[in-house]
Amino acid sequence: MVHTVEKPEQRTTVRERELRETKDEAFGASHIGPFDYCPRLGFREYWYPGIWAKNVGKKKPVKVKMMGEDLVFFRGKAGQVVALTDWCPHRGARLSKGVSDFTGTITCPYHGYVFDDAGQCVAGLIEAVKSPLAPKLRSKKYPTAEHRGIVFVWMGETEPVPLEEDLPWEFKDPGMRVTNYSRVKVWGTNWTEPIWQGIDYHEFYLHRTLKIWNLLHYRLPFFRRKAVVTNGVRIVEEGDNFLTTRQESIEYGQKEYPGLGKWPRRVWWRVLGKSPPAEGRFGWHHNVQLPTIVRVPLGGASHMRWGVPVADWETRMWTFTITEHPKTVFGRVWQDAWYWLYRRHYGVIAINENEDFPIFSAGEINPEIPQKLGILDLGVIYFRRHLARRARDFKRLGGAHGCVKQPPDPQKVAEWRAKAKEAR
Ligand code: FES
Ligand SMILES: [Fe+2]
Repeated sequence: MVHTVEKPEQRTTVRERELRETKDEAFGASHIGPFDYCPRLGFREYWYPGIWAKNVGKKKPVKVKMMGEDLVFFRGKAGQVVALTDWCPHRGARLSKGVSDFTGTITCPYHGYVFDDAGQCVAGLIEAVKSPLAPKLRSKKYPTAEHRGIVFVWMGETEPVPLEEDLPWEFKDPGMRVTNYSRVKVWGTNWTEPIWQGIDYHEFYLHRTLKIWNLLHYRLPFFRRKAVVTNGVRIVEEGDNFLTTRQESIEYGQKEYPGLGKWPRRVWWRVLGKSPPAEGRFGWHHNVQLPTIVRVPLGGASHMRWGVPVADWETRMWTFTITEHPKTVFGRVWQDAWYWLYRRHYGVIAINENEDFPIFSAGEINPEIPQKLGILDLGVIYFRRHLARRARDFKRLGGAHGCVKQPPDPQKVAEWRAKAKEAR
């Protein structure tokens, strides 16, 4: 099954040029910085996963921080999950410490001002039955929409696009199991590095070590010749909001490095045929999609991470192990066992959380020093320089808040703000 948005032959001439430039840049050791065009706190003009809908009850509001902002979630009049800024417009207490005493509202814990699901203050409980201040108090509301049990939040200041526009295709395909095997964890890292590592093939080095299941696996990967050299990265497909990479040309076994000798140092037990890197049955290799989605095939499943920037060094990582719907009850039981007994521990925890994350957690990586990127970083260069500038922030605002080289155009920002004010 191949899911692509467009075919390489549909590339525009602009993108053709960008690809060529990226290659030249890679051979010349690119200096493009992580935050040149990528904002530290993420691209804002997108829908992001906010919270599981089931975690928002009728009485107790829930606070969640996203993109540097504190939000409170509670149930609106129709039972829908709504999001407001957590800071009460009266004197700044946290609404999330309050309660939903009246259906579809939230009451601030401090002086009892009550806000409805549009963010409008509708009463001041201890002020007066008809509060003169209430009509003047309004709390910022964030648009929300629910899909597959997840409440998505529009964090932008421009008008939200329909949620479908930002949902990965897997979420929209009823044949896919998306949320059954998922995990949400806050990683102490900036959102960008988990993106770069989705397309840089670091696995051939960082994830090279022996895992016990390699000894037990029916294909006996421990005894097979391993991929050693990638000869760089190739961009095999790119669209308006995504990028797919592949290793340029893989060499297996053992290599001789001038002046150093052989690596891997010992391979005498690798007597079986080569163990090819997983293509996965979904037809792509490594893929990233704006704003923060990474896909890597792992056997018969797709490993997807969707990061939500929280703070400079904090990212809420939604990890989805996506599979096709099993056809039989036995298939379902098998899939459950496969995930809960094997994949979650191996793919999600052992590799992602115990090997990847410690490399780029706060204090362990320094994005502030000048970087030089080469042919292994081809996808990274392309993302940083070109894909980033095709983000909706750039399209709508002319730049992105918090990036180094191209902040938004003040006039465009003023226009969108005026529109938003009118809509209220
Ligand atoms: S600070 Fe919220 S009611 Fe006073
Ligand atoms: Fe990794």
